[in-house]
Amino acid sequence: MKVIETINEFHKTRNNITNKVGFVPTMGYLHEGHISLVKQARTENDISVVSIFVNPTQFGPNEDFKTYPRNMQRDLAMLEPFTDYVFAPSDKEMYPEGYNTWVETRGITEVLEGAIRPGHFKGVTTVVNKLFNIVQPTKAYFGQKDAQQVAVIKKMVKDLDMNLEVVVCPTLREPDGLAMSSRNTYLTPEMRKGAPVLYKSLQKAQTMVEEGEQSVTAIRREMTDIINKEPLANIEYISFTDNETLKEVYHVKQTTLVSMAVKFGKTRLIDNIVLG
Ligand code: PAJ
Repeated sequence: MKVIETINEFHKTRNNITNKVGFVPTMGYLHEGHISLVKQARTENDISVVSIFVNPTQFGPNEDFKTYPRNMQRDLAMLEPFTDYVFAPSDKEMYPEGYNTWVETRGITEVLEGAIRPGHFKGVTTVVNKLFNIVQPTKAYFGQKDAQQVAVIKKMVKDLDMNLEVVVCPTLREPDGLAMSSRNTYLTPEMRKGAPVLYKSLQKAQTMVEEGEQSVTAIRREMTDIINKEPLANIEYISFTDNETLKEVYHVKQTTLVSMAVKFGKTRLIDNIVLG
């Protein structure tokens, strides 16, 4: 495994690679969810590349950019068995003084996470576009955990005619159902105990649909009840949308995405499933 910190060096390395490149962009503080993407990238390609970059432009002014958990040594040790190249640039390398070019996908970035975190997806599409230009992947791997990010990246790749395939990987969970996330480390032991209510409510939605329920109002009511039983949980949104367009739906279909953000203290947890 080789660690590369500059764009110049990565370009030079990339110029000598003609094989299939599988790429997993990350912000580090890796867990088994990230590693599952890396393993899949490794299996489906000749070369695997992982980037570690806590991207400042996707954090709002009052968000956790400064305190976002970081541990490069641990990350590198976790990646070693599965990765050929790690790209780990500095903030200055990615955004040198005077940097002023932005990539923005409209229409699906104003809802859900985008409504609560204005500018977030502009930062994501800009950095992912830059990373794609640097790494030039054959396939790029993203987690269903961040369902809106997947929809936005797919739309960007299509709209900008990017010559790569976006691969979506399932959400990895802790044994009690909590979706793995670097931010889970912010939870106090009491919050951590209550955090599986997100997945519990999603499972309830799935069961109701299997039993024939189609009304979003009825399903949302049950889900809300489950989450509100947990005193530390505060629902930001529970949303039913089309999985691709992210347009709101009122009757459940095969492609309905249920997504949610729930706050435990200052920590926001997100989760989702596709129903049907
Ligand atoms: P980060 O939160 O580090 O996530 C990196 C990738 O891992 C994303 O595609 C995310 O969906 C996936 N992932 C996170 N938790 C997962 C889980 N429990 N199971 C499966 N996959 C999971 O997402 C970002 O970084 C950034 O926005 C990035 C795309 C790197 C751009 O800065």
